[in-house]
Amino acid sequence: MGSSDLRLDKAALFDALGYVPHAGQLPIHRSSARFRVVSCGVRFGKTTAAAFECIAELMAPREESMGWVVAPTYDLSERIYGRVLSVVRKRLPHRIKLVSERDRRLVLVNVGGGVSELRAKSADNPDSLLGEGLDFLVVDEATRLDESVWHERLAQRLLDKRGRALLISSPAGWDWFARLHRRGLKGRDVEYASFSGPSWANPKLDRALIEQERARMSADAFSALYGGEFVGEPPFPCDLCHGPDPQATGVVLLNEDEPLASCAECGKPVDRSGRSLVRRETNGLPSLEVIRLYVGDRVPERVKPGAGKRGAPVRIEREWKEDVHGGGAGAPLGPPGRRAGSCPTIGQLVDPSPALTHNPANAVRE
Ligand SMILES: Nc1ncnc2c1ncn2[C@@H]1O[C@H](COP(=O)(O)OP(=O)(O)OP(=O)(O)O)[C@@H](O)[C@H]1O
Ligand SMILES: [Mg+2]
Ligand SMILES: [Zn+2]
Repeated sequence: MGSSDLRLDKAALFDALGYVPHAGQLPIHRSSARFRVVSCGVRFGKTTAAAFECIAELMAPREESMGWVVAPTYDLSERIYGRVLSVVRKRLPHRIKLVSERDRRLVLVNVGGGVSELRAKSADNPDSLLGEGLDFLVVDEATRLDESVWHERLAQRLLDKRGRALLISSPAGWDWFARLHRRGLKGRDVEYASFSGPSWANPKLDRALIEQERARMSADAFSALYGGEFVGEPPFPCDLCHGPDPQATGVVLLNEDEPLASCAECGKPVDRSGRSLVRRETNGLPSLEVIRLYVGDRVPERVKPGAGKRGAPVRIEREWKEDVHGGGAGAPLGPPGRRAGSCPTIGQLVDPSPALTHNPANAVRE
């Protein structure tokens, strides 16, 4: 009780433990959000940050507290638990009340004089995840946990005590972890805070070696593995323009010089009212066909000649198709065909040449 007006000085604790978080780790430790969702590149220092976060939670003044560290396997949860144990044994031995190696349980006396406990758990043994209400939960390699483990086993452990959670992982596509991460962006949910960090935020890593890897893999694979980013087309619509939208027609007709407006949020094309023009097809992929009308002899050279022999018809040029491989958000609308041509695998969807499709049915005489 008396401990409630006491607060843990985390920076001083880390200092005393000899842990100096790097610039990428600091904001994670400083956040007071109830749910912290952290997506980072490999070797960023995720496990290290998670271990020290466990120690901070253990030391926080509470009459009694219970926390779990969970990872997809015992080996991985052991990595955090073992780290916690070795730091505590070395720097805070006087606080240890009980260590049970067999049960992977550590009990400490916290700075408020209360008793805090940490247990290491493995998600590959879901039965071990039954039971108690938690004050804190730290999950490493979260994305490798089944979505059901989070929703049905872990999240509910935090309900009765309004416990805190730190979920930390390398990203792996638009899964449940990505959804939680999104929830912590742009003030969507005040209880959530999200962080991202690339591998090179860790000053202990050799940047040159990482750059070598960049050259060896696709841009998307590199962004995910080392950049800690979610790549590809997100499965959810944009907050602002609501695109890609299954209700959108996915086709827009523009005059020669008419600009195509883009959404301030996602960068994808929108109509004058700010509504998305990009259609989400049933396969989940976005599509938009821009048809540009060129009138008479003002037809630019890039439009093939000879298309409108009879008089000066409006020429119709298919100019742009949404990049179905993602990365489309915010990407400039390139000149006809160029974007499509730069992406070899969408050849079937988009004519890679600056195509002119003159459809006489659409031809209009001036
Ligand atoms: N703040 C820090 N100060 C010093 N060394 C650090 C710090 N953070 C991480 N490291 C070191 O960087 C290396 C990678 O750290 P860690 O294992 O925590 O990263 P990770 O993101 O969990 O890696 P992986 O992707 O392999 O799971 C380790 O050698 C670790 O000791
Ligand atoms: Mg790790
Ligand atoms: Zn948008």
